[in-house]
Amino acid sequence: MLLTKSQVIEVLKGVIYFAKGDNIVNLGMIDDFETGEDEVKLRIVFPRLDEPAVNIVSNSAKKAIQDAFGAHVEVKITPVSEKEKGRGPLAGVRNIIAIASGKGGVGKSTVAANLAIALARSGAKVGLVDADIYGPSVPMMFGIGDEQPGVYEREGKPTIIPIEKYGIRLLSIGFFVDTDKALIWRGPMATSALNQLLRDADWGILDYLVIDLPPGTGDIQLTLAQSYSITGAIIVTTPQKVAFADVIRAAAMFRQEKLTIPLLGLIENMAYFSPSDMPEKQYFIFGKGQGETFANQLGIPLLGQIPLVESISASGDGGSPIALDENSPVTKAFDKIALEIKRQIP
Ligand SMILES: Nc1ncnc2c1ncn2[C@@H]1O[C@H](COP(=O)(O)OP(=O)(O)OP(=O)(O)O)[C@@H](O)[C@H]1O
Ligand SMILES: [Mg+2]
Repeated sequence: MLLTKSQVIEVLKGVIYFAKGDNIVNLGMIDDFETGEDEVKLRIVFPRLDEPAVNIVSNSAKKAIQDAFGAHVEVKITPVSEKEKGRGPLAGVRNIIAIASGKGGVGKSTVAANLAIALARSGAKVGLVDADIYGPSVPMMFGIGDEQPGVYEREGKPTIIPIEKYGIRLLSIGFFVDTDKALIWRGPMATSALNQLLRDADWGILDYLVIDLPPGTGDIQLTLAQSYSITGAIIVTTPQKVAFADVIRAAAMFRQEKLTIPLLGLIENMAYFSPSDMPEKQYFIFGKGQGETFANQLGIPLLGQIPLVESISASGDGGSPIALDENSPVTKAFDKIALEIKRQIP
């Protein structure tokens, strides 16, 4: 039987890619598609090829075609990655770095913002995504709370233009959702909001896209890990011993066999207190050397220690992160971390 493309497309609409919650046709995953006499050849584009979904989806596509047109139909499916295809809105993004923590309030957003600035100062092209639906903070930290990103049409689809500030391309989930309601969001809503920030935006060419995650190990973290090709994750902690259980949990999530996202290292925030009138003093109020201990136990590098200083929170609240101040000792700490990141991911 001579098969037509439209017949086969109809059948493929029954094949769901669960990580993105839709069928592979609607998601635009079908590529290089040929049909002939009892024959179908196609490529399916996946975000990454090392996920179990590649086999599951490929097998169910094959089965769906043979169920519809007969077991004798020859089906040849080749999975390819978005990167290979130079495709997907993130095709121009060389590296995605996720900033995670087991616990809330340890300084993820502070680290994400200042690391982005330090990377940009080193000459890299940098973007920052605030994926914290429960408490987006990038708009405030960059003083862009009153701005709205522009939108234009690309290939018939509305495409978001990130806001640029201090040389960094920024998008926050806070621009698009009523965060008062976000707390009661169910998984799929959170996931689709994240996909919009990443896939429906024009990131252009970036060396690093830094993602500020919500605390813990929920749907946002899982979606990100499963559907995007994350170069590495950085875990932020504070020195208290009680924080370590949460650090282990966060690390374990990225190390799950089916995800395996490399852990670039640990950042110990609020490692010691330095009073603004005596910046040379260091008070280890939560204990000394904890970051080192945590990092050693996890077998990952300690990327840096950030002191607890008033200027960090004042500058964050004021819309100009501390790392913009080249004279601050905190800036030097972030520059060092940026250098280490660039060494690990050139
Ligand atoms: N090293 C520091 N010194 C002083 N203040 C800090 C430091 N790190 C973070 N803060 C302040 O602590 C508060 C929490 O930090 P931040 O928002 O970065 O944490 P978070 O981990 O992103 O929190 P959440 O889990 O709510 O997203 C902020 O007001 C921030 O300015
Ligand atoms: Mg935060």
